[in-house]
Amino acid sequence: MQTGMRGRDFIGDLDFSKEEVETVLDVAWDLKRKRALGEPHAYLRDKVLAMMFFFSSTRTRGSFEAGMAQLGGHAAFIESRTTQISHGDTEREIGDIFGRYFDGIAIRHVTWGVGNRYLNLVAEASRVPVLNMQCEIYHPHQCLADLMTIIEKKGRDLRGKKMVVSWAYASSYLKPISVPQSLILQMPRFGLDVVLAHPPEFQLMPEIMDQAREQARKYKTGFEVVDDMEAACQGADIIYAKSWGPLLTTQDAAEGKRIQDKYQHWIADEAKMALGKEDVIYMHPLPADRDIEVTSAVLDGPHSVVFDEAENRLHAQKAVMALTM
Ligand code: CP
Repeated sequence: MQTGMRGRDFIGDLDFSKEEVETVLDVAWDLKRKRALGEPHAYLRDKVLAMMFFFSSTRTRGSFEAGMAQLGGHAAFIESRTTQISHGDTEREIGDIFGRYFDGIAIRHVTWGVGNRYLNLVAEASRVPVLNMQCEIYHPHQCLADLMTIIEKKGRDLRGKKMVVSWAYASSYLKPISVPQSLILQMPRFGLDVVLAHPPEFQLMPEIMDQAREQARKYKTGFEVVDDMEAACQGADIIYAKSWGPLLTTQDAAEGKRIQDKYQHWIADEAKMALGKEDVIYMHPLPADRDIEVTSAVLDGPHSVVFDEAENRLHAQKAVMALTM
């Protein structure tokens, strides 16, 4: 267990070592147990988290805000459009000034080519930890909750288990690529054999792919890329199927939608779930395009763990905040 995480930023999934992630999970389970038993756990009394949103959210806002209150502190919801950022407040000003007001700065900024840079510049200027509530490259707190859920469902020894991270069709909007990127970076460290499935236009960032391959090599796990959802799902223990935009191919929304619409058969349905092991689980960070990205029969069915996964956002994030702030 690592005890020296106070003051640390958490922007990319690999910012925490494997041992530090294990520490986060240990604390998360302790906090989950305490909440279930109604035991007070006010580790952040009098501390305040700034939550800056440049993009909409249901779970991330709710879980960070509830989590800070349960830890005895407070979370200030700051919607970027209500700030003076558009009138000139720079990353340096936000980092330096908010670092003097708050005990942590959490940011969601998913704009392509902008969000991750923004978080890092704020972090450089801030004296307090910067926590990534999702940028265009990473969604690390979602990934911690996903890992926690997988261990709860499949046990601590994940070696030899097959996790499919698959693209799925959505019609609502071009979703960020941060969730699959975080998954392929973090999961090999915990022994999972990852199979990434997507149509050719939906590639992930080459530098993230290189890092994922490096993690798989280091931890001696499988890492395979295929362009066939059915083939990927064969024998799977975990099917994590969600949409993301063809952002490495085009950032034009209309062109992206035209590309995306070619692949409407990439839906997580009962037939694909049946290709997995008998106890296969279905995961999705939500929100999902119901009956387009995933059928209701799967989303609400016996293999789905999406509500436990969403709950674990709360416990994992409380652990990160308690350890870093
Ligand atoms: N999974 C997730 O990040 O949900 P929100 O976009 O609702 O925060």
